[in-house]
Amino acid sequence: MVEAKSIWMDGKLVPWMEANVHILTHTLHYGNGVFEGMRAYKTSKGMAIFRLQEHTKRLLNSAKIVAIEVPYSQSELEKAQIEVIKDNDFKNNAYVRPLVYLGYGAMGVYHKNAPVRVAIAAWEWGAYLGEEGLEKGIEVKTSSFVRNPAKSLFGKAKACGNYLNSQMAKYEAISCGYEEALLLDENGMIAEGSGECFFIVRDGVIITPPNDVSLESITQDSVIKIAKDLGFEVQRRNITRDEVYIADEAFFTGTAAEVTPISSLDKRIIGSGTRGEVTKKLQEAYFDVVYGRNPKYSHWLTYID
Ligand SMILES: Cc1ncc(COP(=O)(O)O)c(C=O)c1O
Repeated sequence: MVEAKSIWMDGKLVPWMEANVHILTHTLHYGNGVFEGMRAYKTSKGMAIFRLQEHTKRLLNSAKIVAIEVPYSQSELEKAQIEVIKDNDFKNNAYVRPLVYLGYGAMGVYHKNAPVRVAIAAWEWGAYLGEEGLEKGIEVKTSSFVRNPAKSLFGKAKACGNYLNSQMAKYEAISCGYEEALLLDENGMIAEGSGECFFIVRDGVIITPPNDVSLESITQDSVIKIAKDLGFEVQRRNITRDEVYIADEAFFTGTAAEVTPISSLDKRIIGSGTRGEVTKKLQEAYFDVVYGRNPKYSHWLTYID
């Protein structure tokens, strides 16, 4: 990670290396906290955060789901994120990471007596699954881990604890020589990647699962809207693992992953085994939107002046 200058903590900017917490920080022990991931792109009109309002809303919704009361409003949080981008004066694209966590002051599993803290960090960050991955596609493994089932955990919350599931799936995939994991739900249907939503293309139709067992992804929503604009039919329905093997194309979407083609799943080559035509079109259209080159979606960008 590239160090930046400052991090916003509970209302003020502190130097990057001084943004520390006590070892008895509640979230560190029991995993209840919520976070977001946003990208800020260097557009021709300066830095712009992509879908700041929607990400901030999801942060507050995540907190509501896990019973954490955030001491800041939506607009205060949006302003604070803009302040972080401004203060750090990034030369390249950056990633913004707000975190609502339970601080020092109470121990034990019961969390309501712990103080609620908020931090916002940002740093320069390139392609999450590699520049080559964006062009050639990545090799993916179906995970042996089931996506956190809705009976046990809250998939609509971007909650810290949920990411133990993602982390183990990612670790398994990498240690087996793959680049990313694809998790199924309890019924064997595709749920999502460790940090991405999932799409296939069959006979020109774009298919992506409903968000029953996945995060309500902002990139997935963006790509669906962009695809419809381009005249594609988009279906929201369940996908089985074997349907992926015989798909023409497959790709992941996410704030970090952007639109990343999938070249194979479980060593079955998908389509031509490289970025497909539909994926390329969507990827280019997505980059046009995030870099402010498509005026139809300029409302998704918050410019930092
Ligand atoms: C588990 C999971 N699913 C999906 C996504 C994609 O969501 P978004 O497009 O809002 O970044 C993410 C990333 O935030 C994620 O962590």
